[in-house]
Amino acid sequence: MPQPISGFSKKSKDEKIQWLASSYLNNDTNAVKVLKQYWNNDEKLQKLHDGFIENTISNYYLPFAIAPNFLIDGTIFSIPMVIEESSVVAAASNTAKFWLDKGGFKAEVISTTKNGQIHINFYGDDIDIQSFFSENKSLLFESVSEIEANMKKRGGGLLDIVLINSTNSLNGYYQLHCTFETNDAMGANFINTCLEEIAKTFETKSKLYSRFISKNDYPEVVMSILSNYVPECLVKAEVQCSVEQMATNDIDGQTFANKFLRAIEIAKAETRRAVTHNKGIMNGIDAVILATGNDFRSVEAGIHAYASKNGKYTSLTDAKVENGMFTFSIEIPLALGTVGGLTALHPLVKFGLSILQNPSAKELMKIVAVAGLAQNFAALRSLVTTGIQKGHMKMHLVNILNNLNASPTEIEKAIHYFKTNLVTHSAVTNYIKQLRE
Ligand code: MEV
Repeated sequence: MPQPISGFSKKSKDEKIQWLASSYLNNDTNAVKVLKQYWNNDEKLQKLHDGFIENTISNYYLPFAIAPNFLIDGTIFSIPMVIEESSVVAAASNTAKFWLDKGGFKAEVISTTKNGQIHINFYGDDIDIQSFFSENKSLLFESVSEIEANMKKRGGGLLDIVLINSTNSLNGYYQLHCTFETNDAMGANFINTCLEEIAKTFETKSKLYSRFISKNDYPEVVMSILSNYVPECLVKAEVQCSVEQMATNDIDGQTFANKFLRAIEIAKAETRRAVTHNKGIMNGIDAVILATGNDFRSVEAGIHAYASKNGKYTSLTDAKVENGMFTFSIEIPLALGTVGGLTALHPLVKFGLSILQNPSAKELMKIVAVAGLAQNFAALRSLVTTGIQKGHMKMHLVNILNNLNASPTEIEKAIHYFKTNLVTHSAVTNYIKQLRE
């Protein structure tokens, strides 16, 4: 059984690998070779990547792709996407093409306010903490004046602090709910630094407050942290065309529109379907979030919470037909950054952002929302017409062939054969087996 190790993080990269190989891999030299194959030859670049996290031993590649032809508010974008799922980029590109001659996508940022909370215990009289807060609110603001100086110059900063009595949800629980504008930065570090400073001032001042002193009952800060639920940092995207224009090779416009609307209604009615429906949307969103160096976990958490904002988890997209016009839309919260964090460090992130013409955070919000809407359109279009597997397995075919170590000639023959035959893992395996016999 492997033994615990102390001081692992202080070991060199080679020592870490040696320890892993001897503890878990029977000193398998091939496994170590594979790991090292993914090191970058450029030492400086490798050092940069090693520095992103602790205990780095190699790099983990994901495909970086481009979905071209996205017409968004009159500008044509090529959208960078980082994702491993074989059919996602093809689906995005097809959808972009579909909407290109129909006016493209329209997007609108509704609001950009972010928030964080200082969570507080207080079991005394509500009136005491309320009066302490109103007497000290301006001091709390002042406590972050240095931290927010630069952000303020760019039009952002701390917007407001509100004391919320949450004792109905939890005994003795109060919050300082703080709102922020962080411009083009995602703002997590800025918000957390501000919150911790406000919390410090809150606690220090409370120790000197006569009503708390006289009753020997003081508020206590439990923790201070931003919220990844950002329903006031909201973006909307939509597409529109006449029902006739919805026609494709597979289906006429009216039937397609009807089935599409029904698919949305089902996602609204049934949580099991809504989760998968929204997962497809996240295929597009996460891929752009990763390519632009943003935090996909915070985006995922916030968006799924938003999908349940009315108490039931439901579809993030909506569709309607009115006066013969089909409209399909998405509304999602997105706290994104185009400056700071990985955006300044990761060369591929910089590349992705320059392909997008170095967007502001607001512009990126629109692009990401469009990517999510497009992905949902592609998924529903396949689902209500040909079924999802046809396109998915066509893209997956190459993975299966690579898995079977198919030669270039075998790959060429297989791609030709499976144009008209159903792709399944066993069908491809049998086909290659026959070729080799
Ligand atoms: C697969 O990654 C995503 C889909 O399941 C989404 C959906 O069902 O809407 C195809």
